[in-house]
Amino acid sequence: MSLLTLPGLVDVHTHLRVPGGEHKEDFVTGTAAALAGGFTTILAMPNTTPPLTTDQVLEATRKKAQRFIYCDVGLFAGASPQHLNQLPRLARLTTGLKIYLNDTFGPLRVDDLPALRACFQNWPRDKMIAMHAEGQSVAVGIGLAATYQRAVHFCHISRKEEIEMIAVAKQQGLPVTCEVTPHHLYLTGADIDRLGPLADMRPHLAEQTDVDTLWVHLNTTIDCIATDHAPHTLAEKESVRPPPGVPGLETALPLMLSAVQQKRLSLERLIELMSTNPRRIYKLPAQPDTFVEVDPQARYTIANRALHTKCGWSPFAGLTVAGRLQRVVLRGQTVFEREKSGSSGKILVQPGYGRLIPS
Ligand code: NCD
Ligand code: ZN
Ligand code: ZN
Repeated sequence: MSLLTLPGLVDVHTHLRVPGGEHKEDFVTGTAAALAGGFTTILAMPNTTPPLTTDQVLEATRKKAQRFIYCDVGLFAGASPQHLNQLPRLARLTTGLKIYLNDTFGPLRVDDLPALRACFQNWPRDKMIAMHAEGQSVAVGIGLAATYQRAVHFCHISRKEEIEMIAVAKQQGLPVTCEVTPHHLYLTGADIDRLGPLADMRPHLAEQTDVDTLWVHLNTTIDCIATDHAPHTLAEKESVRPPPGVPGLETALPLMLSAVQQKRLSLERLIELMSTNPRRIYKLPAQPDTFVEVDPQARYTIANRALHTKCGWSPFAGLTVAGRLQRVVLRGQTVFEREKSGSSGKILVQPGYGRLIPS
């Protein structure tokens, strides 16, 4: 067995559900899932209960995170029309501002011009603004990046028109970047028949032509693979009103390694998309003596029972992938190891080993 060494991976889009959604995920289980997926740095979204839109929620969340995280974690501030005056203060201890332009899970939404202007005027220029923007909202985001001449990052881009428009914006030299999720690369609307609510997320799964276009842009326009790890319990997903979102931290690397094996992607490009670019875009600190070991030949079938995420399911359960994570080293310490090839692997450090970004 010859192992492959990759740098510690970075996921700029996760939902760790603290505070208020700890029955779905918490800092311990969410960062365990991150390490089990090869991610040593992750960024957590602010659509919590209450949302991360005030100093008080930020402070309480950071306190909790510092006690429980296994890997390094940065928090997003959330833009909410009621708390726009808090933005400059929130900026100091967060890694970016998240603006939701469209409906999704949670109450955070900014869709009027005065609030959008205030976000762009009040958020420090050296910190990222990330957007949940679907359809024509992508054009709004590009317009704002052009008008204010500042960086905007588009979350979970999923449609042909969206990625093609971002490609044009980049050709014009506008400071925009974007991420794509593995589920939008591997699933289409046709999978809803099989998966039901387990295939419900925002943006909705798209058509084959959208998926094909994303794969074409994976070598050019797309900057990052991000999981949009959005755990909900199976009971919630099977309820009459299932919340949108799917977990993804533990399946992203094997899915993308499978693409490498199928020659749809080079290993160098995978490293750019899952480590180098996300670190650069969000100005995240380097992690010395940090790496991930995978067995690129090992084939295995994704199984719910082997997952570390508290929600305990994956839309990819039953799929056979190539490329298995064996070990994760963070700052010189083995933090995750799979002793036997079939096991789910173990976390080898105490909660709190991870660091907050900024600390
Ligand atoms: C996310 C969630 O559950 O928090 N759901 C989703 O379908 N993607 C919210 C989001 O990222 O839009
Ligand atoms: Zn979103
Ligand atoms: Zn999300």
